Amino acid sequence: MELNLNKLVVGLSRALDFMEIDFLGVVSNHSKRVAYIALQTAIVHGMGHKELFDLATLAILHDNGMGKAFQLARDSKAPSQVGPEEHTMNKYDKGPGHCVAGEENVKGFPFLTVPKEVLRYHHENYDGSGFFHVKGEQIPCMAQLIRLADMVELHADLRNIDFAGKHELGVFLAKQDGTTLSPEIVADFWAAASYPAFWLDLKDEFVELALSRLVPRFSTNIRWQDLRKVTRIFSRIIDSKSRFTLLHSQELAERTGRMGAFYGLDDEHIAELQIAADLHDIGKLAVCNDILEKPGKLGPEEIDVIQRHTYYTRISLQSVTGFENITEWAANHHEKLDGSGYPYKKKAADLDFNARLLACLDVYQALTEERPYRGALSHAKAMEILGELVVQGKIDSGIVQDIDQVFGVSNPSNNAKHS
Ligand SMILES: [Fe+2]
Ligand SMILES: [Fe+2]
Ligand SMILES: [Fe+2]
Ligand SMILES: [Fe+2]
Repeated sequence: MELNLNKLVVGLSRALDFMEIDFLGVVSNHSKRVAYIALQTAIVHGMGHKELFDLATLAILHDNGMGKAFQLARDSKAPSQVGPEEHTMNKYDKGPGHCVAGEENVKGFPFLTVPKEVLRYHHENYDGSGFFHVKGEQIPCMAQLIRLADMVELHADLRNIDFAGKHELGVFLAKQDGTTLSPEIVADFWAAASYPAFWLDLKDEFVELALSRLVPRFSTNIRWQDLRKVTRIFSRIIDSKSRFTLLHSQELAERTGRMGAFYGLDDEHIAELQIAADLHDIGKLAVCNDILEKPGKLGPEEIDVIQRHTYYTRISLQSVTGFENITEWAANHHEKLDGSGYPYKKKAADLDFNARLLACLDVYQALTEERPYRGALSHAKAMEILGELVVQGKIDSGIVQDIDQVFGVSNPSNNAKHS
C-alpha cells in the first residue's frame, strides 16, 4: 500500500506528546515543537532532504526511552525503597537512562539515512560535560540540533511568546553558546527564528500543521509486513510504560498472528491486524502509572481516566492515510457487542470480525498476564471469564471458542504457561 511516511510520523508524534504530558508534566506538543525547531535550524544548517526526514522522526522520538528508563530505575531498587512518591520523583529524572533506552528502542527503524547514536547523545554538552562526555563535533549533528530544540522548548513558553520572552531566550541561549550548545547551531537557530512565522508556527493551534508542512514528503510503497518494523518499535515503547504490561502489546500481536493463521487469513491481512495489535494501547502513554499500576480496584475517577486511552489511540492513528482499518480495529478494542464498552458505546453492528477478534484477544491477553492486584491466570481460568462475558452478550462467542482451540491444552504447540 502507498503510505505517506510524513503523516505516519506526525500522527505518532501525538502519542509521544501524550507520554511527555504524563512523565514530565510539560505542555502538550513538546515533541512536535522540538521537531519543528530542530528541522528549521537544520534547514539553515544545510541538511539534505533524507536527513531532514530522519531528523524529524528522531526529534519526535527524542524522549521515547523515558518509560523504560523509569521502570529500570525503579526495578533496580529494593521493594522497601519504593514508596508511593516514587513515580512523581522519577517523572523528572531525565538522566542518561532515557538516552540509552531511547537509542535501543529505535534500533531497526527503517531510517532513510544511517543516523548513529543521535538519541544516545541528545543531552550531551558541547564542552564535553554531558552524561557521556562526548565533545564538540563528536556529538552527532542531529543530536546537537535536538539538544538545542529541547532546551529552547523547555526554557521558553512557546505557546505564546512575546518580544520580552524572545529577548529573555536570547540571554539564556547566549549563556549556552559554546558550553552546552554549539555556537554554529545557536547561530543557525537565530537565523531560522528571524521570521515572524517561525514563532507563530509554534503556537499550540498551528504547530502540527506547520510540522506537517516542514517534514519532507516521502511516500513509499510498503507492505504491511515491512511496516511492522516501525510499529513493533512502538509496541515496545507502549509496553515499557508499565512493568505490568512489559510484553502486553508484543504478545497480543503474536497471538493475533496465530489466530490469523488459524483462520487462514493471508499474510498481508495478518500483518495489518498485527499492526493494530502493536498500536492498540498507544493511548495508554497518556495515562499516568499511578493509575496503571494501582494495586487494587480503581475508583470511578480513575476508571474515567483510564477509559480515555482508546480515544487517544484513535486520535494518534486516524490521520494516517491507509490506517483506516487499523484505526478502527485498534481503537475499538474496549467496545462491547451489547453497547456497554467504551469510549463510543458501539454495538455489535459497528464491530466487524477483526475488531471483535482484537477485543477478545485483548481480554485473554490481559487475563493471562500478571496485574498489580493478581497473578497471571491460567488458560482455563481465563476461558471461564471469557465464557461469562459471552453469556452477558459482550464478546463474540465463536471467536472465544476459537481462542480456546488455538491456545488451549489440546493444542500441542502451546507452552506450559498457558495450560
Ligand atoms: Fe531527553
Ligand atoms: Fe524533551
Ligand atoms: Fe486497552
Ligand atoms: Fe490492551
